Amino acid sequence: MKTTRYKIQFPQADVHKLNQDESFFYLTEQNNRRKIRFHDYNEIYKMPGLYEQIFYERLKCKSPTKVSEILKSTVSQSQDNFSELRVLDLGAGNGIMGEELKKYGVSRLVGVDIIPEAYDAVVRDRPDVYDDFFIADFCHLTNEQRENLESWSFDCLTTVAALGFGDIPTKAFTEAFNILQSEGWVAFNVKETFLDSSDTTGFSATIRELIFSEYLDLYHLERYRHRLSIEGEPLYYFAIAGRKNGDIPKDFLDAIEK
Ligand SMILES: C[S@@+](CC[C@H](N)C(=O)[O-])C[C@H]1O[C@@H](n2cnc3c(N)ncnc32)[C@H](O)[C@@H]1O
Repeated sequence: MKTTRYKIQFPQADVHKLNQDESFFYLTEQNNRRKIRFHDYNEIYKMPGLYEQIFYERLKCKSPTKVSEILKSTVSQSQDNFSELRVLDLGAGNGIMGEELKKYGVSRLVGVDIIPEAYDAVVRDRPDVYDDFFIADFCHLTNEQRENLESWSFDCLTTVAALGFGDIPTKAFTEAFNILQSEGWVAFNVKETFLDSSDTTGFSATIRELIFSEYLDLYHLERYRHRLSIEGEPLYYFAIAGRKNGDIPKDFLDAIEK
């Protein structure tokens, strides 16, 4: 992968008291300084190595490593063979989680992201990681997309650093969960506050209900440092792994979110 170094700068501490999803940085190229929000993934992925430089080098993100580790140790508690897993990586971005899974070795690995720039970045930077990659919105899958995805017979779902904050909504996550084979493995992470009962937003309530629901057998729940904030403060997340115990019924979300 090309290793361009970018001139990036985070805003001064006193001019921002931003929520995590409002964070941004400045990128300077040829004397032109522009502001890019952390959520402008389309802009970030277009520049090889920029995502890695910000989130993995500067902000020390370790979620793909952590979530793949707990998935490995979770599966090892069963008779299943990790190397035979058929994995759907939802919110795959430019493929860093896929790369981690590939280190352990899995049978099939398919990525999905909602933006075409993620696909372009994977093809450019990590062309050998995924067996296939879909650009799809799981909130509005066409019948053809669903059938295509089902034909992979996935028995593992991973979603890293992509749930909440306006990224993957619970509806999309449950759609992916239901595409999994029965007794499929699930591994993902969420910000620690999403599991706090004082957070009464629909997203948090649904995630909590889902984690402790009859549809998932919880194997692993671990608080860890996801990454640093731009102020250098640790951001804690929970890494979660478990086994699917049944499809989530359509009225499950409606009942929580109304
Ligand atoms: C912070 S990135 C994480 C990428 C990768 N999993 C990683 O750990 O580096 C979040 C990704 O989720 C994707 N995303 C957001 N909403 C989505 C949705 N509804 N369906 C699929 N992907 C989505 C974004 O496009 C982005 O690539």
